[in-house]
Amino acid sequence: MNSTENKFSNRRTFILAAIGAAVGLGNIWKFPYIVGEHGGGAFILIYLGAILVTGIPIFMAELYIGKRERTDVVSAFPKKSAWFGIGPFSVISTILVLGIYSVIGGWVLDFEFQSIMGEFSPSNPDLEIIPPQDGGLGKQILWTGLFYILCIAICIGGVQKGIERASKILIPVLILLILVLAVRSLFMPGVGEATDFLFLPDFSQLTREAIVEAIGHAFFTLSVGFGAILTYGSYLPQGSQPLPRMAITVAVADTFIAMLMGFIIFAIGYSHTGFEPAAGPALLFETLPNLFGETAAGYFLSIAFFTLVAFAALTSAISMLEIVIAVVQKYSGLNRLWTTLICGTFMFGASALVIAYYEETFDFVDDFTSNYMLPAGGIFMSLYVGWRLGPAAVKDIVGDKHPGLSSGLLWILRLVAPIAVAGVVLNGVI
Ligand code: TRP
Repeated sequence: MNSTENKFSNRRTFILAAIGAAVGLGNIWKFPYIVGEHGGGAFILIYLGAILVTGIPIFMAELYIGKRERTDVVSAFPKKSAWFGIGPFSVISTILVLGIYSVIGGWVLDFEFQSIMGEFSPSNPDLEIIPPQDGGLGKQILWTGLFYILCIAICIGGVQKGIERASKILIPVLILLILVLAVRSLFMPGVGEATDFLFLPDFSQLTREAIVEAIGHAFFTLSVGFGAILTYGSYLPQGSQPLPRMAITVAVADTFIAMLMGFIIFAIGYSHTGFEPAAGPALLFETLPNLFGETAAGYFLSIAFFTLVAFAALTSAISMLEIVIAVVQKYSGLNRLWTTLICGTFMFGASALVIAYYEETFDFVDDFTSNYMLPAGGIFMSLYVGWRLGPAAVKDIVGDKHPGLSSGLLWILRLVAPIAVAGVVLNGVI
């Protein structure tokens, strides 16, 4: 287990992999549509606040636990204490999230294939988009299965030959594709309206649900709360410092990419008459493909677009699968190959159930995990580092040179983040 194989080669490759975990369907599929549903700029301000006050500090806390304990999310917490519950809670939550995440991953592969086949191209005279969840059981199971095969193929290689290698290839290509699409959208007629929508806050649209959603999404998009960052952190090479800088780098990259994606999607949207920014989850799988069909070079745009979505989804899904793999490998003693195959197949079964019982499961699990379980997981990690590991740990995170920062972070983890998150979220329940 402790061979160099099971470590990232250096800090940089860790950051690439963590950006891979962070940048995913949350940035591309979810962020633009929740911004659209909750009225744009005002929602973005709350989301940015949540990233700063809770997301980044808890990211540091999780990363620190992983780096310190150098083990999976279950073994990382002390046995025979209530804190131990955090591990199993994280694993169950991850199984739920990955279960639905890979269903969307399957849709993405399906739409990428359709793009390549020229479905969404202006030269296709009878463009008809079938919402992915209505695409038939067998077809969805097939694409989701393929999505898992790709995840398994990456994870089988372990940290260096799997996760690290995939991130080194997929993330730079992903960033390049986003930049190409962003530049292309600058020349679209809808740019003005898109920037107004994203950056002019309208506080009248800001409901309590919007605030809960913004906080939940801050956790989801940074991948904190369930042990993905903890698990990747356990593979950091010895002596990697400083954690705050790594956390901020990942958060800035993630936020920047979410904003660019929002900009791209709304610029394409507002370039067409009758665009409905609050189209919800269908924004990515109905509205956009339709618009590609009306856009010059729509064929290439649609391929570039769905390739980038597929890469983002894959590098995130492997971070979730890795949480489960690390735990199962530790407790079963099986080798990497078998553990990955078993975990991947099990997860495929879970996703097949989601597909079969779509109406009963999908929205409920999505809302419940990201609005309640993720914030709860984040609060647990925050309290654990703040109270159980205490001031010495926080000093370790920040370094000796900044005593002021260190006590600031301590109280954020002990009180500010837990109370802010719990307050807002519970307010929604009670
Ligand atoms: N951050 C990813 C996204 O935005 C999703 C994700 C990856 C995640 N790993 C996670 C969410 C762990 C929660 C927990 O798509």
